Amino acid sequence: MVRRLEFTQPSLKGKLEVPGDKSISHRAVMFGSVAEGVTTISHFLEGEDCLSTIDCFRKLGVTIEQNGTDVKVHGKGFAGLTAPNEVLDVGNSGTSIRLLLGLLAGLPFEMTFTGDESIAKRPMKRVVGPLRQMGAQISGRDDGNLVPLTLKGSALTGIEYKLPVASAQVKSAILLAGLQADGETTVIEKERTRDHTEKMIQSFGGEISVDGMRISVRGGQTLQGGHIYVPGDISSAAFWLAAGAIVPDSEITIESVGLNPTRTGIIDVLREMGADMDVILDKGTGSGEEIGTITIRHSQLHGTTIGGDIIPRLIDEIPIIALVATQAKGQTIIKNAEELKVKETNRIDAIATQLGRLGAVITPTEDGLIIEGEQSLRGGKADSLTDHRIGMTLSIASLLADGPVELENEDAISVSYPSFFEDLDRLLS
Ligand code: S3P
Repeated sequence: MVRRLEFTQPSLKGKLEVPGDKSISHRAVMFGSVAEGVTTISHFLEGEDCLSTIDCFRKLGVTIEQNGTDVKVHGKGFAGLTAPNEVLDVGNSGTSIRLLLGLLAGLPFEMTFTGDESIAKRPMKRVVGPLRQMGAQISGRDDGNLVPLTLKGSALTGIEYKLPVASAQVKSAILLAGLQADGETTVIEKERTRDHTEKMIQSFGGEISVDGMRISVRGGQTLQGGHIYVPGDISSAAFWLAAGAIVPDSEITIESVGLNPTRTGIIDVLREMGADMDVILDKGTGSGEEIGTITIRHSQLHGTTIGGDIIPRLIDEIPIIALVATQAKGQTIIKNAEELKVKETNRIDAIATQLGRLGAVITPTEDGLIIEGEQSLRGGKADSLTDHRIGMTLSIASLLADGPVELENEDAISVSYPSFFEDLDRLLS
């Protein structure tokens, strides 16, 4: 579907709570399903990706009641899950497939996973490799790298695995498999990535040890259901933080947003670029996740260099950071971000090409982007492709364009932020 975006001298003002965190919503359903007892989830993200996770667990025999952002999962324990008689279709969701491959690898039955045209291109070997080392039997195209993948449950043994890429999905898949493996499973991180899995194992009563970059779990643990409140997704809030910073005469406050330090690289970068911003920590969610309020006002920003261990802390925010950089004084360089190539699209290409269609001057590099500052943006056609974050970045860009933007494939946005355009309207009025 195509959406026409046309604004005259917009300014964004007001308070907003963004939808629940995607990473935490997925995990709450996953842990709730394999735990004993009932898990209630509030402020769940009703986006397509997380609904795909619910759908997969229903096919595995779990009763899940979903009423908007309230979800009740009737946990069955690992042993209570049953063989699905349909293919598990994860849609666009990399987190669903990668974490489920780990979580389900030790179950005594067979299942097949598939997904949409974007998932069909995304590498699964990064999880299939270590899971095979643990004893998992996984087959599929390109020696088990590409969907459809078939997992034949088998007994697992704990391993020690040094992550070759900074990926929370790979880390989580191995730790989740470790919960069912014989002995101890240890993952050694290359760079610190989002730690929602570690936090959630603890809030479901499990034991996990984190010693610097070494994270270990013991097999054979029983998890206990409970209540999970999902904070607002900082990766969704990032679009309003960016808009507040670059659209003249704007002031936006985002309340109840997750501020887990493994996710707040966007705040550090905006501060470094000179944003006028206040961040106030609230008292936490009760499940170990930090939460707070951010207010941002329009100001003149300057370019920066982004690379090294901050990259995993803002990997999903790079499309919108690239847009912010087009409005800053001077050049911005993003490096060490080769992981962008295996996201919902090859984001290095997608950012340069699609923002380029609106007049931005962005050079793709092997591991990132070079973005020229103080660019005037123009109207025209641009495409979300199969990528929600590209779609939202282009929508924010349209606020600065000198003519209408025709956004192709706008429906991609519903993967993580179905109410994005309603929230935009609210801030414009
Ligand atoms: C996620 C981890 C990140 C991120 C994705 C969600 C997660 O992927 O890009 O949107 O929930 O663990 P990688 O682990 O591949 O970096």
